[in-house]
Amino acid sequence: MTERGQARPQSAEPRSEPRPGERWRAEFPYHWDGDDLVSRRELLHFAVYTSGALFSCTTLLALLGLLQRPAPAEAKLVARVDEVVEGQAFYFRYPDPDDQAVLLHLPGGRFVAYSQKCTHLSCSVYYQPEPGRLFCPCHEGVFDPESGNAVAGPPPRRLPRVLLRREGELLYAVGQVP
Ligand code: FES
Repeated sequence: MTERGQARPQSAEPRSEPRPGERWRAEFPYHWDGDDLVSRRELLHFAVYTSGALFSCTTLLALLGLLQRPAPAEAKLVARVDEVVEGQAFYFRYPDPDDQAVLLHLPGGRFVAYSQKCTHLSCSVYYQPEPGRLFCPCHEGVFDPESGNAVAGPPPRRLPRVLLRREGELLYAVGQVP
């Protein structure tokens, strides 16, 4: 019955039900004729060209990175050997005037130097002859003076090491390694 109370006319033909395997075609009709077919060969070409382009870009970026690598730092006089008493520290600036560094005259006579910038949140690290450690007061980070390794507290890695060269009685900083 319709809203007006009239009976709907019965269709003469019975409604055709899709077969079980064909039901999705009826629910999701897809017009194959309107599709642009992409052959496997074209898809392969696209993949090869795209990979080649990505490889070329990566190589180019790597070469640019090599070309822009900073020039090795110049040797810079740090101190005379007799200025730093054994077991004591000498603070200096390296490689730039804003970069603080510390030279240690370790017990036994060896000289080592590190950046003073803590590897946690960049506070300044200081040498404490007793108990013989590099200490960061911000969060109580501790570094081993012999190696610069982080040994306690939150610092995640060692202090950057300043490379030293001794010429007679003079000590020069000649580079820095992370
Ligand atoms: S900044 Fe040095 S321990 Fe946090």
